[in-house]
Amino acid sequence: MNTITDAKHLEQTTELDMSNFWMPFTANKQFKAAPRMFKKAKGMYYTTVDDRQVIDAVAGLWCVNAGHGREEIVQAVTQQMSQMDYAPTFQMGHPIAFEAATRLAQIMPADMDRIFFTNSGSEAVDTALKIALAYHRSRGEGQRTRLIGRERGYHGVGFGGISVGGILPNRKAFSANMIPGVDHMPATLNIEKAAFSRGQPAWGGHLADELEKIVALHDASTIAAVIIEPVSGSAGVLLPPQGYLQRLRDICTKHGILLIFDEVITGFGRLGKATASEFFGVTPDLITMAKAINNAAIPMGAVAAHRNVHDTIVHGGPANAIELFHGYTYSAHPAAAAACIATQDIYEREALFERSAAMAPVFEKAIHSLKGEPNVKDIRNLGLVGGIELQSREGAPGTRAYDAFLKCFQNGVMVRFTGDTLAFSPPLIVEDSHIDQIFETVRKAIREVA
Ligand SMILES: Cc1ncc(COP(=O)(O)O)c(C=O)c1O
Repeated sequence: MNTITDAKHLEQTTELDMSNFWMPFTANKQFKAAPRMFKKAKGMYYTTVDDRQVIDAVAGLWCVNAGHGREEIVQAVTQQMSQMDYAPTFQMGHPIAFEAATRLAQIMPADMDRIFFTNSGSEAVDTALKIALAYHRSRGEGQRTRLIGRERGYHGVGFGGISVGGILPNRKAFSANMIPGVDHMPATLNIEKAAFSRGQPAWGGHLADELEKIVALHDASTIAAVIIEPVSGSAGVLLPPQGYLQRLRDICTKHGILLIFDEVITGFGRLGKATASEFFGVTPDLITMAKAINNAAIPMGAVAAHRNVHDTIVHGGPANAIELFHGYTYSAHPAAAAACIATQDIYEREALFERSAAMAPVFEKAIHSLKGEPNVKDIRNLGLVGGIELQSREGAPGTRAYDAFLKCFQNGVMVRFTGDTLAFSPPLIVEDSHIDQIFETVRKAIREVA
């Protein structure tokens, strides 16, 4: 049995058995030998089990955009749970599910207002891929089955998501069972050509033309969809070069290929608008979302589909036929839907997307002030997303960022790390003083792990 025995680390006097919880995306043995545990969260801060305040520089896991412990969400969920805990949405309905869909539709790009609910980003991705396949089949083009993702893409952990995704460790143990007929475009990051760019790099828009090469190889008539993250977070904060997204849109339109933006991280104000699609002025055919959809209070995800995609599938068959054989027991779960509506109220009332846009220059200045610190190889940022890539230690990739992450945690700041990149995505309620605290702590940590 693996236990924490040091009383300082625990509020409760009993020993905590840590052996049963097999932790996700975690070095289980390393973590359980020296756990990092939170017991409370409010606003910008977590409280550890030993009563230290830790500022949240990543909005939990890119998801608590309105800050922690929002009373309005607590009340909405509590009220909903006491009124009706659960009702199915297969051949039945409940008003709050429709209301949540309407609220999301109102902030999606024009005509992208048909909402399919899931319980996570991974499920939203697999749902979007399936909708794309179903769309082509409904149009009599069932041979369009090929899916195009991108190297270093992260689209969650379902078999669809890891197939179109491009992160090696997420794929290699499962590669034999991934879905067939997938190609990958190159990632857009090139540190030699675009290090320390502020905002979108000027170099790299031409990389969208790689899609034309894939079309030339397989023919457009075999390709169903292209999926990308407009800004990718999980693979280490990769930004779209100027002109890249529009060029992808144009190529997809030209060839009748659906374009999916995976906005699980970029949705809900991360870039200062409701969606990255709105921010970049490029409208895809499907948008996936999750996380900040309801401030991460209850698991929830969704796909926003363009009316054309929805209508092609839904209006194609007889009125008594189920149009899409897909859905989850918890699609539009009443508690998640209540949290979603309460969260949208907060975003609107507190103008948090605008606030995010207003704080972005402060964030940019602060993160770029770390240029020149030891081993800082690149700094990338857009909106309230940023990454600091550190030079990897010879023969020990990832260890420098891990050590910096640990130092930050010990000094009261929670950051994320992927490989040797430290990632930042604070709640949108972040203030100047928080940004100072975050980056001065990170500066010190980076110096200490030199
Ligand atoms: C772009 C993107 N897609 C999908 C996912 C998966 O979401 P979930 O962990 O909710 O399944 C993530 C999670 O970070 C993500 O960043």
